[in-house]
Amino acid sequence: MTDPTQQKPPVSARLRAVSFRGHKSSGDSGPGRYYPAFIEGGLSRAGMGAQVAQHYLMYEALEQASAVLHERLGTRFHFWLPQLHRLPSLTDDLRFWWGEQWSERIEVTPGIGEYVERIRTVSVDSVPLFVAHQYTRYLADLSGGQAIGRMVTEAYRLGDGPGARFYEFQEIDDAAAFKDHYRGLLDAEGFSEAEVEAIEAEVWEAYRLNNLAFSDLESRFEEYAA
Ligand code: HEM
Repeated sequence: MTDPTQQKPPVSARLRAVSFRGHKSSGDSGPGRYYPAFIEGGLSRAGMGAQVAQHYLMYEALEQASAVLHERLGTRFHFWLPQLHRLPSLTDDLRFWWGEQWSERIEVTPGIGEYVERIRTVSVDSVPLFVAHQYTRYLADLSGGQAIGRMVTEAYRLGDGPGARFYEFQEIDDAAAFKDHYRGLLDAEGFSEAEVEAIEAEVWEAYRLNNLAFSDLESRFEEYAA
């Protein structure tokens, strides 16, 4: 019989521990210039659109992978959660910042290119690795992202209009309750120990890739300041 004192914490708690380290490592390089300008209303339309465009590329890869897994596994895919999907709101936001020609302006810069490539490579064939990327992005959006959305809406005086729709989850009334539901899915999936370790490593990698993508924006700050 297994000794209960030797049992590992639930998957959700283990990922939360990785996230705790991830937030600390994101802060290690300091706030830079892009991010403070972003939340204080100091970016131009070019600068705002550049971040939305990065999100568009990330979520396009994630949501395509999710659709493939849903199609392949049907109801055995327990992480088919279209209420999370961000592409429609990202399209509204891009149209707002960049106008009708938004799609022609999307650039795949090196950091975001690496991130998207990673999502595409690992997620389509592996539910655990897909989950690592899904968890890292959407739980962030439902956590710190909610405060960021409010700050941006106020700083750029967006009111009820588009520009920061990405942060609004129309189909989720209670972000905290949804996060608990999601943690329940993680814990009930029955991932093996090897799978959980692979998810932990991939979440860590997702933090690194998020930072890398963000450094693309930081490096072009002069171009993006209002
Ligand atoms: C300035 C930027 C950020 C702020 C202010 C922020 C803030 C927060 C806060 C306050 C929580 C805890 C919420 C709760 O316990 O319910 C949280 C959770 C989370 N954040 Fe962030 N965050 C930021 C950036 C990021 C980034 C860049 C990522 C990764 C892409 C990320 C991923 C997550 C995840 C996955 C969680 C959920 C952790 C869990 O409960 O398992 N965050 N964030």
